[in-house]
Amino acid sequence: MSLHESAAVGIRATIVLPTYNEAGNLPALVARIAEVIPQAEILVVDDASPDGTASVARGLARRYPVRTVERSRERGLATAVLRGLAEASSGVCVVMDADLSHPPEAIPALIEAVRAGADIAVGSRYAVGGEIDAWPRWRRWVSLAGTLLARPITGVRDPMAGFFCVRRSLLRYEELKPRGFKILLEILARTRGARVVEVPIRFADRRTGDSKFGSRERREFLKQVWALYRDLNAWPWRLAKFLITGGIGYAVHMAILCALVEGARWGRTGSVVCAFALSMTANYALNRSWTFRARRAGVARSYAIYVLGAAGGLLTQLAVMHALSGIHYVLAASLGIAAGTLFTVLTSQQWAFAKR
Ligand code: GDD
Ligand code: MN
Repeated sequence: MSLHESAAVGIRATIVLPTYNEAGNLPALVARIAEVIPQAEILVVDDASPDGTASVARGLARRYPVRTVERSRERGLATAVLRGLAEASSGVCVVMDADLSHPPEAIPALIEAVRAGADIAVGSRYAVGGEIDAWPRWRRWVSLAGTLLARPITGVRDPMAGFFCVRRSLLRYEELKPRGFKILLEILARTRGARVVEVPIRFADRRTGDSKFGSRERREFLKQVWALYRDLNAWPWRLAKFLITGGIGYAVHMAILCALVEGARWGRTGSVVCAFALSMTANYALNRSWTFRARRAGVARSYAIYVLGAAGGLLTQLAVMHALSGIHYVLAASLGIAAGTLFTVLTSQQWAFAKR
């Protein structure tokens, strides 16, 4: 959109620029933003950059609509962005890196998408038409790995992006747990029902200075993803809990089986069926209350489906045990349980504990 068109649209927005040592990039960036969207407020949120970024920003305020928020006791991109969103004077905010890796010329398209009804418009490198210029290969791999880890949390194609437009009224700051770099992922994950669109952009590596996305930030990202898996009960966390529950069920099952075979001198089949019935019910209770906590179906119906699924697991276990009758019953039972568990996982996930 040209300068004239954007002026005609009367776009009023706040451009939030989180900065740490961006003195070399800020003048060119601010000039390009002002060129593209002259009415926008430019809000620099600086964390006491040693290179004097804040004083460069204050100098730019004499010529451009730049406001500076300086944080002296805090560091961190995610919290800096939230501080900018909280202090913005407009209801529509664009967040972008201050190192010229995000094209200011794409700002009007992001704002237009929000004005057209979206709650969040992502400047996306991975949407159809998106591009990445001159970025080290290992950075691409790290970005793609992060995108894959985020897949169980959001379907957005570029959740690692730092360039997005957001309608401020959408945000519930108390529900966000900002840490590290990926504030967009935090907003996407914890803002239920948000209408999100992706606008393809051309991402280029920074012009001057160094990336702050170091190993500490990558560790913070992994902690953030794990916290989101747990808080949202995403499938990796559900699978982990299902396997933990399965391990507990296996221990209960084997203890009863050994007690019946060794102590009560029962036969293999009777012992397996009895041990299975008791351990399966214990497992049902644990899976219902802990593993699939958000997927409550009526007890009778869900228990019946769970028993059917588990019966398939039992039949699998008996078949494997009898096929391996020549080996020790503990090993045969263990192999049978492993084979039956897969059957039980699928039936539990799909039916027994499915969302109502
Ligand atoms: N206030 C503040 N405090 N700003 C920060 C801090 C901080 O502690 N750390 C980084 N920034 C600012 C930088 O000045 C820059 O404007 C922006 O945040 C992104 O930091 P970069 O150092 O440029 O990170 P990158 O180039 O590796 O970008 C990665 O993260 C960005 C933000 O999520 C990539 O994943 C990009 O795609 C992404 O946009
Ligand atoms: Mn950057």
